[in-house]
Amino acid sequence: MSKAASGRPPILIGVAWPYANGPLHLGHIAGSLLPPDIFRRAMRMLGHDVLMVSGSDCHGTPIMIKAEKEGKTPGEVVAFYNEEHKAALGRLHIDFDLFTATTTPNHREWVQKIFLACREMGYIETRTTEAPYDAKAGRFLPDRYVEGTCPHCKTAGARGDQCDACGKTLDPKELIAPHSKMNPGNPVTFRPTEHFFFLLSKLQPALERYVQATAGHWRANTINFTSQWLKDGLVDRAITRDLTWGVPIPPLPGSSTNYDDKRIYVWFEAVCGYLTAAVEWAQRQGKPEAWHRFWTDKTARSYYFLGKDNIPFHTIIWPAILIAYNEARGKKGEPLLNLPYDVPANEFLNLAGLKFSKSQGVGIGVQEVLDRFQSDAVRYYLSINMPEGKDADWTWEDFQSKVNDELVGALGNLVHRVLSFTQKNLGVIPNAPEADDKLDAKLRAAIAACGDDMETHLRAVRLRPAMRRLMELAFLGNQAMQEAQPWAKYKTNRPEAEDKLHSLIRVVKALAVYMAPFLPEAAQKAWSAVGEEGSVHAQPWSAAQAPLAIGHRLAEPQPLFIKLDPDQIKALAGPGAPPTPSKVTPVDSKTNAPATLAPTPAAPSAKPAPAPQPTSISIEEFQRINLRLAKVVAVEAHPKADKLYVVKLDAGELGPRQVVAGLKAFYKPEELVGQTVAFVANLAPAMLRGVESQGMILAADDGTTVGFLTPQRALPPGSKIR
Ligand code: MF3
Ligand code: ZN
Repeated sequence: MSKAASGRPPILIGVAWPYANGPLHLGHIAGSLLPPDIFRRAMRMLGHDVLMVSGSDCHGTPIMIKAEKEGKTPGEVVAFYNEEHKAALGRLHIDFDLFTATTTPNHREWVQKIFLACREMGYIETRTTEAPYDAKAGRFLPDRYVEGTCPHCKTAGARGDQCDACGKTLDPKELIAPHSKMNPGNPVTFRPTEHFFFLLSKLQPALERYVQATAGHWRANTINFTSQWLKDGLVDRAITRDLTWGVPIPPLPGSSTNYDDKRIYVWFEAVCGYLTAAVEWAQRQGKPEAWHRFWTDKTARSYYFLGKDNIPFHTIIWPAILIAYNEARGKKGEPLLNLPYDVPANEFLNLAGLKFSKSQGVGIGVQEVLDRFQSDAVRYYLSINMPEGKDADWTWEDFQSKVNDELVGALGNLVHRVLSFTQKNLGVIPNAPEADDKLDAKLRAAIAACGDDMETHLRAVRLRPAMRRLMELAFLGNQAMQEAQPWAKYKTNRPEAEDKLHSLIRVVKALAVYMAPFLPEAAQKAWSAVGEEGSVHAQPWSAAQAPLAIGHRLAEPQPLFIKLDPDQIKALAGPGAPPTPSKVTPVDSKTNAPATLAPTPAAPSAKPAPAPQPTSISIEEFQRINLRLAKVVAVEAHPKADKLYVVKLDAGELGPRQVVAGLKAFYKPEELVGQTVAFVANLAPAMLRGVESQGMILAADDGTTVGFLTPQRALPPGSKIR
C-alpha cells in the first residue's frame, strides 16, 4: 500500500531560496528556514513521505550589487555564500533533502522549457517598454539599481521593485526623482527596450478559482496579501531584464532575434527552483521519476515557507506559471503539476525593533551566534518566539530568560532530575506500576493529550503553539515530580517510589519524542538516556506512548542544555558592547547609522560554549580553589533581591568577609548566625545587585531543598578544606 493510499499524503516542502549574497542571519532562520525544518521532522514522525528542497537564489540584482562591491564575479560570490549557507544550516540541523543552487544546468534547462511552454500557450509575449537607463554609466539598470521616493507612502530610498516602508511592489517608472543606486549622482532616464511579458491579466480568472478553492486554510497574512493583489487587478509583467547574469532566453522557435544581452527575471526563474530541485533530487537518488510522487500525485500536498515579503511570488506568480505550464503539459498528455497547498508566511523577526535584512546589514549572523550558544537553545528561542501572525523581537535579555528559565529550568531540569535520581538510587528503569496507580494514569493521559494537541497544531503549521504545548507537559512533569517526592518516599516505601519514577520516566521519554522536531540534539540525548536505541528522528509520533525499557541500566545523565551566563549576555546586549568585527554590521535601516545594539562582539572570552560533558580535573586544578571554614557573624536581607542574604563571615586568618548567598528561602537569619560554613575564599569578587560578594558559601541541593555544608566536628574559622 502506498503512503498516499494509507491516508498520509506525500508532502513537498519548498523553502524560499535565500539570496547567496551575504551570510545567513537570524531573521532568515526565524522567517523562513527553521519553520520548515520543524514541520518536516514532525510530518515524517507522523508517517508522511516528505521531500524538502531549496537552494541558493543566485541571480538577480542583490547578487550583482554584492559582486560589484567586492570586486568579484557573481559566480564567485554565490559559490562562496552557497557554502556559507550550507554550513550555517547544517550547524542548526536544518536539514534539506536537497539544498542546491539556481546555477545548475538542470535548473537552466527546465526554466527555459517552462518559459517556452508558457510562450507557446500564449502567456508570454514581447513588448517594447521604457526601462531605466543610466546614461553616464551607459547601461540599463535593473529595478533594484534604481532608487527614489515611493509614490504611495512618499518615503525616500524606495527601490525600483519594492518599497520597504509600505511593502508595495513598484515599477521603477513610478518612483519620484529616480536615481542610480550604484552612482547616486546619476539621474535615471527611461529608454525603450524590448522585453518578454508574462500575461498575468489573462491568468487572473484561473488564479481566482485556485485561491478560492485553496485559501481556506491559509494564514491571514497570506490571504490578505493575495486578495489585495487580485483585487487591484493583475498586471502583465516584464520577466526579462537587460543583464548578462542569469538564465538566458532560449532560442525561440520561428524567431532569429538575438537576445544574448537579456536574461529571464529572477522572480520568474527562481520560483521554478521548487520543481527543478525536486527533479535534481530524484536524479541524485538514481530514480529520475521519483519527483512525480511529490509533484503529480493528486493526493500530494505542497507547503511553501517564506517571509511575508515573498507572499505574492508564491501565491500569484508561481501558481500562474504552473497554471500556464500545466496547460502545455495537458496538451502533451503529461501529468499536471500540483499548485501550492499552503503558503505559511512568517512576519519579521526584529533585532530590538530593527528589521533583519541582509541588504541593509541589520542582523545577527547565524554562525556567530552558534559560536557562542547551543543550536537547540537558538532553535528553542526562535520557536517559542516565532513571528507567526505578528512580528517578534530578538532581545538578548529575553533570550537569556527563555533559555535559563524555561529550557534549562523546566525542560532540562525535569529530564535531569528524574534520570539522575533514578540512576543514583536504582541504577535501572524500574518496573511499571500496578494498573491502579493514580499518578501513572494521570501522566499517561497527559502524554496522550499533549501528543494529540501538538499534532493538531503541527498539521496546521502552528509551530509556536505546538512548542508551548510541549512546555506545558514539561511544567506538569516538574509539578508531578514535586508532588511525588520520590526522594522522600524512597526511604520509607521503595516500591511506591519506584512506581512513581517509572511514570516520570515515561514523561521524559514522551518529551524526547515530542521535542524532536524542535530540539533535535537534545531529543536524541534524552531518547538515548532512557535506554532507547537508534535515532529518535526515525520514530513514529506514537513512540511517545510506547512502554519503557524496563531494567535498562541507566548511565549517569548529562544535562541537555547549558545555562547561559548573564555576563556573556550582558556583554552582547549592553550599550557598551564592543563593536562587532563581523561581516554583518548592524545598522539602523532608516539612517544607515550603526545600531546601538552590537549583536556579537568577538571578545576573547566569547569562545564556543563548552559542551555539557563531565570533564575530570587534576588535583592541581582542584587545589587552586581556596576552600575554608568561616563563622557566620551576621545575616541581613539583601536590599534589592528577595531571595538573597548579605552574610558577614569571620574567616579566621583571612579576616572578615561579606558574601551574598541565596539562602533566604531556606533559612531564617537566626538559623545561620553562629554556624560554621564552608566557603570558597578566592572567588573573584562580584557585585550582586549592587552588593559586593567576596566568596561563596557552599550548600547542597536536590532541586527542592538546600542545606549548607558544615564540618562534622568543631573547627576554628579559617581552617583549610582539602
Ligand atoms: N531570494 C528571495 C529572497 O531572499 C526568495 C526567493 S524564493 C524563490 O527574498 F522561490 F523564488 F526562490
Ligand atoms: Zn512606500
